[in-house]
Amino acid sequence: MSQMISNNADEFENSDLPFKVNRLSPNIGAELLELDLKNSLDSETKKKIYEALLVYKVIFFRNQNLTTEEHLKFGRHFGELEVHPFAPYKEGFPEVLNITHNEKNKGKENVWHSDVTWREKPSLGSILRMIEGPQIGGDTLFSDMQTAYDKLPEDIKNKLEGAIAVHDFVGFRKLLIKKGKTTEEVEAFNKKYPNPEHPVIRTHPDTKKKAIYVNKAFTQYIKGWEENESKSMLDFLYSQAAIPEYQCRFIWEKDSIAFWDNRSCQHYAVSDYWPQVRKVERVTVIGDTPY
Ligand code: SIN
Repeated sequence: MSQMISNNADEFENSDLPFKVNRLSPNIGAELLELDLKNSLDSETKKKIYEALLVYKVIFFRNQNLTTEEHLKFGRHFGELEVHPFAPYKEGFPEVLNITHNEKNKGKENVWHSDVTWREKPSLGSILRMIEGPQIGGDTLFSDMQTAYDKLPEDIKNKLEGAIAVHDFVGFRKLLIKKGKTTEEVEAFNKKYPNPEHPVIRTHPDTKKKAIYVNKAFTQYIKGWEENESKSMLDFLYSQAAIPEYQCRFIWEKDSIAFWDNRSCQHYAVSDYWPQVRKVERVTVIGDTPY
């Protein structure tokens, strides 16, 4: 996508936009109003939606009763979509993750993370649609990892300059073993998806802003650091996502869509609705190699 000069929200909102903006918090999150994503989007609208993603880090749309094909088409405006090798997908649509929780399967995405950082090229962004939500609960929290970086003490920023972290699909491996995959099958996945190394602080390819890019779900350790030092730094960095001032909270309705930038924010799906049903579908846009 095209580069953007500024990611200042006021400047963006004072420019000519094909939608209205309702910000959810000063740092992160905005609803884009008066858009019907069923309509084919002209290049200016697509460009402005992408710019909004850069500015707000997560953008939301309401009342978007899309077909699966329309969901895929919207996702493809922003890049190639991935097929997740471990998570269940919608029958006939390998690029559509089907995340369903109910009485027998409690919500598990309640850990702060950025999607698929265990890949060499993790996700640019994820586009999630609410199919069936609980009466109450099941919100998703988003946390701004750029503001979190900006607010770090200078000595920590200096210490993290050039630091590299190793990531792993650890939770999915546990799931594979639980599902009865043999040691050989698990080993084949290990070979296919070797642990990637990503900078602890990444630079956004469009805005050039720096962000904390380690997460509790997938990051294992900081390369070359003493085990204790690595663990305490990672625990400190993970804890930044939980600071309310960096967050927004999205209350879902049926056919709401969230599109988040995995390069600049982390998310946490609140698992407070058991035994009610919560069913969402996600398409995931492939990103580039973090630097
Ligand atoms: C996810 O972690 O991708 C799922 C988020 C959600 O269900 O709200």
